[in-house]
Amino acid sequence: MSRIVYVNGNYLPEEEATVSIFDRGFLMADGVYEVTSVLDGKILEFPGHSARLERSLRELDMALPVTMDELLTIHRELVARNELVEGMIYLQVTRGNPGDRDFAFPDPAATPSTLVLFTQSKPGLADNPVAKKGIKVISIEDIRWGRRDIKTVQLLYPSMGKMMAKKAGADDAWMVEDGFVTEGTSNNVYIVKDGKIITRQLSQDILHGITRAAVLRYAAEAQMEVVERAFTIAEAQAADEAFFTSASAFVMPVVEIDGVALSEGKVGPVATRLREIYLDESRKTAI
Ligand code: PDD
Repeated sequence: MSRIVYVNGNYLPEEEATVSIFDRGFLMADGVYEVTSVLDGKILEFPGHSARLERSLRELDMALPVTMDELLTIHRELVARNELVEGMIYLQVTRGNPGDRDFAFPDPAATPSTLVLFTQSKPGLADNPVAKKGIKVISIEDIRWGRRDIKTVQLLYPSMGKMMAKKAGADDAWMVEDGFVTEGTSNNVYIVKDGKIITRQLSQDILHGITRAAVLRYAAEAQMEVVERAFTIAEAQAADEAFFTSASAFVMPVVEIDGVALSEGKVGPVATRLREIYLDESRKTAI
């Protein structure tokens, strides 16, 4: 069965789905996106993802060609048509196809936004064996633009960061600016010291992770102490535990930072517990 994707009002087999070469997403990386996970055929954290999408669009003066209710229907329709049980839904909105290349934004009345969604089937996402082993990260300089709170499709540097990590025999990279860790290439990062969960405070320097918000809420409900502040790589290397969060990885333990093992290279209890709580709770609220 060919994957059914959504493009500008149509559900099509992926081979038939096309976007113009003049689309500003393609020419200018002028677009925003969301990644939402699906467990048991249900969508996780839809209200959070749709609110962040609205905010990203507003910050860039971009319009969404459908309502939020319609967007939920499209998500559900794609889950149903592709019989998606476990995996992700990728959504992208770009400033459309003005018919030529021009730096100035086109008139939105004449150039509607492009809306594309597709599913990614990932059986075993929740039961990922990597979460029992933990992953290794390296640190790299954060040279991205200054509005990382907007979820844009400008992902060249994060992709380069992943490749730098791969080359170094690691799994991911944590980015550092002015001596402090901002975030991972595609996730928010945390350390645990003396029972406290420490993660960078929200600002324009990092993406406001939907998984981050949920995990911090569940941590507080479980009487775990959370401190929102920046930390250095040296502090992270001296921590009891480290982990990251994202819609596609949930809570993922980190056991090595720049070659230094944390808690003897083993996954720690806080990350393990938070992953369990996150999976349990988000399954309950999935729609
Ligand atoms: N990435 N920070 C960055 C830079 C990200 O790209 C992501 C998500 C996050 C975590 O946000 P959330 O919890 O809402 O997924 C933080 C997605 C998964 C991606 O690009 O595939």
